[in-house]
Amino acid sequence: MQTLNIIGAGRLGQSIGRLAAQAGYRIGSVYCRSQASAQAACDFIGQGAPLASLHDVQPALLTLLAVPDGQIAPVAAMLADSGRVAAGQVVFHASGACEAALLAPLAARGAYCASLHPAFSFAEPARAVASFAGTRCALEGDERTFASLQDLALAIGGQPFLLAPGGKLAYHAALAVASNYLVTLHALAQQLASRAGIGAQDAHVLLGELMQKTLANSLALGPATALTGPIARGDADTVRRHRAVMSPPQDALYCALGTATLGLAAGRLDEAQQAAVAIALREGGCGVGQGE
Ligand SMILES: NC(=O)c1ccc[n+]([C@@H]2O[C@H](COP(=O)([O-])OP(=O)(O)OC[C@H]3O[C@@H](n4cnc5c(N)ncnc54)[C@H](OP(=O)(O)O)[C@@H]3O)[C@@H](O)[C@H]2O)c1
Repeated sequence: MQTLNIIGAGRLGQSIGRLAAQAGYRIGSVYCRSQASAQAACDFIGQGAPLASLHDVQPALLTLLAVPDGQIAPVAAMLADSGRVAAGQVVFHASGACEAALLAPLAARGAYCASLHPAFSFAEPARAVASFAGTRCALEGDERTFASLQDLALAIGGQPFLLAPGGKLAYHAALAVASNYLVTLHALAQQLASRAGIGAQDAHVLLGELMQKTLANSLALGPATALTGPIARGDADTVRRHRAVMSPPQDALYCALGTATLGLAAGRLDEAQQAAVAIALREGGCGVGQGE
């Protein structure tokens, strides 16, 4: 039976701990900022020894550092200084934006270091445990960790995949655009619908159905083929008229996205159409529309 230590047992640490325990892993040392917090995590996981000090960490094949991103490097340094991680043990963090290199002090002691990022929102551990199955888990770092971390990811119901060296930030930026910016676009569309006098409930249905169908088209056909609308048709006049109803921040966003959209549509438009749309997106400067 493999042992998993958890340093930082908050939302992600508790969830992974419980999933791992259910999959037959033994949960060893559990350490948080407060021992009460570590005890509560062990209660949730159903296993584990809550510690008051990093110096009490027991040997384990796997150690997860699930502290906030800004704490990974200092906690890794403290764990290395504690001398409680031996050569050949696997230590990994779960940050999406940071690389395994944050664990360098542990690697210097002979530990094999990696990051394993589940592309999942651990808002609340009980809900996370119930819905984690099928989550993609990006693995990066020392290849000597890959076999045991792939086994762990599969055992807890995840779908592991390897990230190329140096790809971590672009990977995380891709997730941020796909998830966060989709929400930002929804908010912009809501503001414009409101400006048209459409009530919130009607806008919810109108925009929700359109966004869902558009996303389904883009996933099925690819972005360039799924694209419709004035820019895809080379309709510079409509682009210009849209801009007239925007506030300056809306206009700035519309122009930036419009320029990227024009790039997607380029294969369908002749040079004159592309130039006309580009001018409509640039004229008057972006973010200086007529709106409020
Ligand atoms: N939450 C998500 O949806 C999600 C998704 C993917 C990846 N991640 C990654 O998972 C990691 C943890 O995120 P989280 O959301 O689980 O954070 P969290 O809920 O805030 O939990 C952080 C845990 O770390 C402990 N901690 C903080 N500073 C510490 C220190 N100096 N020494 C020891 N323990 C310390 C906290 O202890 P106390 O309980 O005593 O305060 C807490 O148990 C981050 O790298 C994050 O990027 C999170």
